Amino acid sequence: MPSDSKFLLSSQPRARWMRLDTAQLLKRFFFCERSLLLSEAAWIPAIAPLTIKIELAKFIWQNAETANALRDRVFELRFPSRILAEEGADHTLIELFAEAKNSPSVPAFLLSIGRVLLPALRDAYREYLERSDTIADGPTHRFLSQALRDKNDQIKAFEEWIESALPQNDESSQGALAWTKAVSDQLAHIGGVGVAPASASTLNKLPGSKTYSIPDRPARDARFWPCRFYWPDIVDSAYPYGEGMQLQLRSAISHLNEVWAIEAGGIMLSAFAGVLPWEWIRNAARWTYDESRHCCMGYERLMAWGLHPSEIPLGSYIYDSASGEDPIYRLGMLYFFETKNIRHKLARTKLFHEYGDLMSEHDMDFDWADESMHAGFGKRWLKELLVARGEDPAAYERIREHCGTLIRENISTATTQEITDIKRLATSLLAKAAAS
Ligand SMILES: [Fe+2]
Ligand SMILES: [Fe+2]
Repeated sequence: MPSDSKFLLSSQPRARWMRLDTAQLLKRFFFCERSLLLSEAAWIPAIAPLTIKIELAKFIWQNAETANALRDRVFELRFPSRILAEEGADHTLIELFAEAKNSPSVPAFLLSIGRVLLPALRDAYREYLERSDTIADGPTHRFLSQALRDKNDQIKAFEEWIESALPQNDESSQGALAWTKAVSDQLAHIGGVGVAPASASTLNKLPGSKTYSIPDRPARDARFWPCRFYWPDIVDSAYPYGEGMQLQLRSAISHLNEVWAIEAGGIMLSAFAGVLPWEWIRNAARWTYDESRHCCMGYERLMAWGLHPSEIPLGSYIYDSASGEDPIYRLGMLYFFETKNIRHKLARTKLFHEYGDLMSEHDMDFDWADESMHAGFGKRWLKELLVARGEDPAAYERIREHCGTLIRENISTATTQEITDIKRLATSLLAKAAAS
């Protein structure tokens, strides 16, 4: 096209966003992902179905990996690091994403994330990928394409959960729908996520918002046999952990009952996100996801042996032991159990190999590697948290010891009835396993 300029000019959509415009958008996505995953982590204990707890832990990890790639990319683009630490013009948007944590109920939480926040991020990523430059910004395209696929999978899963969560309670459904509409209206009011410059607006208080607090009791999947203490050896030191079939069963039940560790991971991730650096959130997300895989390993093995959830004990005593305490003891509980149990894992892996039980051997072997990493996480972050609080980092061992005390105190509250019931259940499970 003829031009009256004395320079070489062309109309190129590639040049739409300059380096710092690009960094600005990626920073917005980083904060949205961060905020979203914090709310998701905080809600794990309140959601009953085991499959949701397990999947949600995976999504938290996916979102943390996306956020981390976004953050790294913003640094690569030489964005001033001082500004990366601030939400800046996107403050209102991030505040709205953070509001999901104050959802008034489980259906409200699922609906507002599944129908509003996740689709808004998905659309923004799609638009970004369509409009940004695949040459200059190629590295973003690789990870953001993966993030877009993750978002599509996550939305699909949330839709299924919403369908199962909504019809059960009419009043709660109405409240959840009203909450979701309020979140959606606010998002539209502040201009959505998108790829446009942030609009200057303030967030109106969302009607129905309920300030989040850590649940005292964890919600449990009603398909399982509900209890506090999930095997007799917990409440009776004379009861053997066992060998052979008893060990196979005990180990799978332990794995399934790592549901407490998913919950502890979610709580601590969210509780310390404001005082510890980004690396904490990333480690805690991976930690929470790993625990969900261990829980899933147990579930899959028990199902493969032909057992029914209604005859499998799903307990709560480890979660209960740290309830009402400083959330540092959630982190402490993970560290306590991980350092206490890790020495048994290789020996048990070997035994499972001798039994020809490839599945238990395989699961325990992978679990051992994860737990070795977690023991390192536990020590590092307990110390860093103490430092952040102006306390002596060497006191991390005292946190661990106090967790042992909390556990013993909780076990001492086991009733005769609870002990009789769990023994009866264990006996019938072992008999069923032996007869199969
Ligand atoms: Fe674990
Ligand atoms: Fe672990």
